[in-house]
Amino acid sequence: MNWNDCIERSNTHSVKWSFPIEDVIPMCIADMDFQVSPAIVEALNRKAQHGIYGYSTFSERYFNSIISWWKKRFNMEINKDWISFSPGIIPGINVLLSVLTKPGDGVIIQSPVYYPFYSTIENHGCSIINNTLLYKDGEYSIDFQDLEEKARHAKTKLLILCSPHNPVGRVWTRDELERIGDIALRHDLWVISDEMHGDLVYEGYEHIPLFKNNDRILEKSILCAAPSKTFNIAGLQTSILLIPNKDLRDQYNEKLTGFGLMRPNVFGIEGTIAAYEEGEPWLRELQMVLEENKQYVLNYLEQHLPELKGIVPQATHLIWIDCSKLGMESEELCTFFLEKAKVKFDEGFKFGSSGNKFVRMNIACPKERIDLALRRMHQVILEQRINQHA
Ligand SMILES: Cc1ncc(COP(=O)(O)O)c(C=O)c1O
Repeated sequence: MNWNDCIERSNTHSVKWSFPIEDVIPMCIADMDFQVSPAIVEALNRKAQHGIYGYSTFSERYFNSIISWWKKRFNMEINKDWISFSPGIIPGINVLLSVLTKPGDGVIIQSPVYYPFYSTIENHGCSIINNTLLYKDGEYSIDFQDLEEKARHAKTKLLILCSPHNPVGRVWTRDELERIGDIALRHDLWVISDEMHGDLVYEGYEHIPLFKNNDRILEKSILCAAPSKTFNIAGLQTSILLIPNKDLRDQYNEKLTGFGLMRPNVFGIEGTIAAYEEGEPWLRELQMVLEENKQYVLNYLEQHLPELKGIVPQATHLIWIDCSKLGMESEELCTFFLEKAKVKFDEGFKFGSSGNKFVRMNIACPKERIDLALRRMHQVILEQRINQHA
């Protein structure tokens, strides 16, 4: 794999690269500018050559590829029966909420957090209950006292946990996960654990699936995962929900069928099998590239742009950057980077008001592109410093 290749993505129907302003470097949207594992390309080519793309279904090989991945990556036994399908994590969470909540119920999230959680909760007439993460000395942690208080409320039904957390990049420790589980069980809350980024963990950290070695939480939780972030195949729209509780699983599958969402994409099945069976060597290389990119960005910010504080991610291919020293409000901040530097970030305020004055930077691209974006940012901040002192 050539990880330095700047592959052209404009005019390929890529969301990230369909930006209407010319010459903008998109450092937004959580997909990667790297080509996927050759094993996935071969599997999709084989399917394309077959030439018949009718309705598809799951096979033993598909289920086994998932079971083996969990065993290999997380040393966790999963039961085939738990495995349910969704075309995406967000559609899956929507279907779950339609089963688990009624209008007026409260759903806890931990902001700043992946912004579609907000509209997902609102879609079901539920209230968003914010257990805002604590932010101190450039690090994020859970406010457990606040979580306990909010969980205690009679209307609160559910917690959507983002593990690892997007955008702050935290990998929750065993102790934190146990405390979350205890609170949920004590207050009879369901936990939806979105573990979409669970494979993209940096050296020195370990992603622990919520219900690994925690049988008590098994019946009250759902684990969402997918090969889509890990292997850059989000466009194949094939995600996995692990639902150990049989009643819930039956209701989920019934709703999924009712919404007509139960059929997998013909290429998604092939992509998932190839990714989980043969993608690990590619993933190991990717992790080394991301480690380098992460260090490069953090060092660059520290050395040249002290106005910007990169929060050290423990996982994800994203860096959450505190821009509060620039003294700009959120929208102004993004316009500043977009119009002056021609670099597009995900705006921090979309992740909740605690994300105001932050931007989220995607580092899953060749170093050359990162370097160009950083140099452009450097230039406009230098100009701003000069203007401030003029
Ligand atoms: C934490 C998290 N959950 C879900 C998603 C989106 O999942 P999907 O595209 O499968 O709905 C993302 C995408 O960035 C994400 O970061």
